This record gives sequence, C-alpha cells and structure tokens, in this order.
Amino acid sequence: MKEIVPAPPAIIRNDYESVRELFAKNVVPSYGRFDLVLSHGVGSYVFDVAGKRYLDLGGGIAVNCLGHAHPAITEALVEQSKKLVHVSNLYFTEPQGKLAAELVKRIGNGKVFFSNSGAEANEGLFKLARKFGHDEGRFEILTANNSFHGRTLAGIAATGQDKVKKGFEPMMPGFRHIPYNDLEAARNSISPATVAIMIEGVQGEGGVTPATPEYLLGLRALCDEKKLLLLMDGVQCGHFRTGRFQSFQKILEGVPGGEKFLPDGLSMAKSLGGGFPIGAFWVRAPFQDLLGPGTHATTFGGTPLACAVALKILEVIEAEKLDQNARKLGDWMKNEFERLVKNYPSVVKNARGLGFMLGLELVEKIPAFAASEKSAAIQFTNRLHAAGVLVIPAGTQVVRLLPPLNLKPQEAGEGISKIEEIIKALT
Ligand SMILES: Cc1ncc(COP(=O)(O)O)c(C=O)c1O
Repeated sequence: MKEIVPAPPAIIRNDYESVRELFAKNVVPSYGRFDLVLSHGVGSYVFDVAGKRYLDLGGGIAVNCLGHAHPAITEALVEQSKKLVHVSNLYFTEPQGKLAAELVKRIGNGKVFFSNSGAEANEGLFKLARKFGHDEGRFEILTANNSFHGRTLAGIAATGQDKVKKGFEPMMPGFRHIPYNDLEAARNSISPATVAIMIEGVQGEGGVTPATPEYLLGLRALCDEKKLLLLMDGVQCGHFRTGRFQSFQKILEGVPGGEKFLPDGLSMAKSLGGGFPIGAFWVRAPFQDLLGPGTHATTFGGTPLACAVALKILEVIEAEKLDQNARKLGDWMKNEFERLVKNYPSVVKNARGLGFMLGLELVEKIPAFAASEKSAAIQFTNRLHAAGVLVIPAGTQVVRLLPPLNLKPQEAGEGISKIEEIIKALT
C-alpha cells in the first residue's frame, strides 16, 4: 500500500526545489546523490527540509561517530575557536602534540602525521613506502581486489575496483591488486620492485569484508621476511567502530600472537573528527623519521581546531564506553541480520561485519527491482529512505550500516524493524 504523505507547506517545498536548483546550476555533478535535501540533525536522527525525520544508520559513511549536533563537539569548536583556529605547521601547537600522543598511545610506538582526509592520509603512506624503498629502486605497493583507498590519482590507482579508474587512465604506476584474504596470492605476487602491501582491516566500499586473523598474522610475517612495509587503511573501519580502537585489534583479540601485531603504517580519518575534517597516518617506530623535514606537508593538517575536536571525541567515546556499545549493539544487530537472512532467503543472502560496521547482502534477482536499472543496493536504500532510515550502499548488492557509536538500543531496534518491513514487502 502506498503511504500517503501530506504535502509539505509551500515554503518548505520551495527550499527543496531551490537547493536542488543551486546544485544543478553550480555544483560539479560528480556524485550520484539521493533525492534528499537534509537540513539539521540531533543525535542519531537527521531531518530534511520538509521536516521529515530519518534514523541515520549511515553516519555520514562512518564519520558522525557521536551522531549529529553533539554538545561536546560544539563546545570544543567554540572554546578552541576563541583561542586559535589555525596556524601554519611552521610552528608547534599543543592540541596537535596532544592528539598525536593520544593516537600513539592507542596504536603503538611510533609517530603521527596529520592530513585533511582519508585519501590524503593514504597518500602520505604511499610516499612513506616510496621513501623506504627508494635507494633500492623498490616502489610497488600491492593492494587488494575490491579495496577502496580514496579518489586522488594515487588513491584510484591503489583502489582495487575498475569503476573508480575508468576515464582517468593512464593510472599512476606502482600499484598492483591481489585477492583479499589470500596469503598465498600475496606471496606469489611480490616482485623485486615491491615495497609494501596495503589492506583495509575491514573492506568497506567493497562490501564489508573483514580480514581473517590468519591473513593479518600471515601478512605481517611475509612483510618481515621480504622487507616490505605492511600498511593498513583504517579510514573507515577504525576509531572504535569494530569495538576496539583499530579493526586489527578486534580481529586479533584472543588470537595467539595477536596482541603483538602492529602494521608499519596506518591511515585514519572519518570518525577521527566526528564530522570536522581531519585525517592522519601513524608510522611504526623504526620508520617514524623516514619523512624528514621538507619531505611532506599540508597547510591544514592538524590545525588546533581540528585536533581539539578530535581530542574531545576520544574523551567522550572512552568516558561513555562507546566502544563497548558498538561491540554489544553491533553484535545484536548482526544477529538480527542473520535472522533476516534465515527468514527471508528470497531477499537477503548474507550478513557481514564487525561492531558498527555491518553489511546485509541482497540476492541477485529481486523481482520487484527488475524494472529499474538501478542496483539492488540503491533501490533498497531508496525504500529505506521512504521509511525514514538512512543506510549506505556498498557495491551493487550490499547495504551498509555505519551508525554513530552512541546509537541507542531502541534506535537499533527501530532500524532493524524498518529494514525487516522493507524485506517483507519484497518477498
Ligand atoms: C577505506 C577508505 N580509505 C580511504 C577513503 C578516502 O577517504 P576520504 O574520502 O576522506 O578521502 C575512504 C572513503 O570512503 C575509505 O573508506
């Protein structure tokens, strides 16, 4: 039955149309946007210009870790902006030093460089690898099929998905892709030019696939044996989303030898700033001074304002034990996804993920979707939007949940029941 939604007041309808017009005329159309014009949010909910409320289980693609309009973020922004918003990285500032120390404390012995985004954090790691191998003529980085590492030129070369490369050839040389979670393939792909292997702890855009403990430990041993850097992209799966600060800490929990595991480099962004742009990469101690003065820089990296926000976010997450929330409520949601897979095999076929990084895989041919050229993931997402829930498609068949770490149990319940309603309607 079609839901009858009362027409919004004329003034609001104009808001919707005028914003759409502004975009049509002035914004580069590089995004396939959904038909929503959002205006404000609070907690796990966001509102469109017509006042319709959506439960935001996409979290700005793993960014809004404290939800929308969190008072601690507002306070950090206000307080720090009264003191110092930006100075050049020609000078020292306390917030940057403190944030670097907090990140090192949670990852391991090493140092941190601050950037503005995830792609830029990965760029820094690529440069680190090139510097590491430079004098031996080694420069090649192996990355995984279905990986995603950003949209810069090196980012698309590193990303193991053809769709991001198309139209931008020739690709930057020095990247080759290998099957994910396949240690033998990694070993067999190493050439004399190889200098590093980069993987995501949990592949996000590729459809929410965690690395296995054996793969992580095996890659570590392989990289040590072959003198390669092991680089991890924690942009999407990091920052407590899996229930631990970094995904590899969660994946290797309780695994013999797992507590000693560290990559050589790790990129971060997204939830690090909770919506305020900031990225970073961490480098393990033996390599921490490879990028010496003059080798790498960015104007906005690690501004006092960005670092003050990131410090506050860490404080809130740990004070409120939101890592535990992501773990427990994430487990509950995954169990619910598994129930849906069992009960509705004609619509959903697989549940994947860790903590608050969850994927629900749709079957290939859903009759109700046959009439449209849009992917199943997009059509399912559109139905959820109509029902008042935001989720994120991953590839053509998977919908992803990347909710705020402070999601409440009743909100998780609301999300699951709305997802179930959509699935039921598709059976
Ligand atoms: C795993 C991963 N790496 C890198 C990036 C790129 O980050 P950004 O969009 O901040 O450049 C993303 C973005 O989705 C990501 O998911």
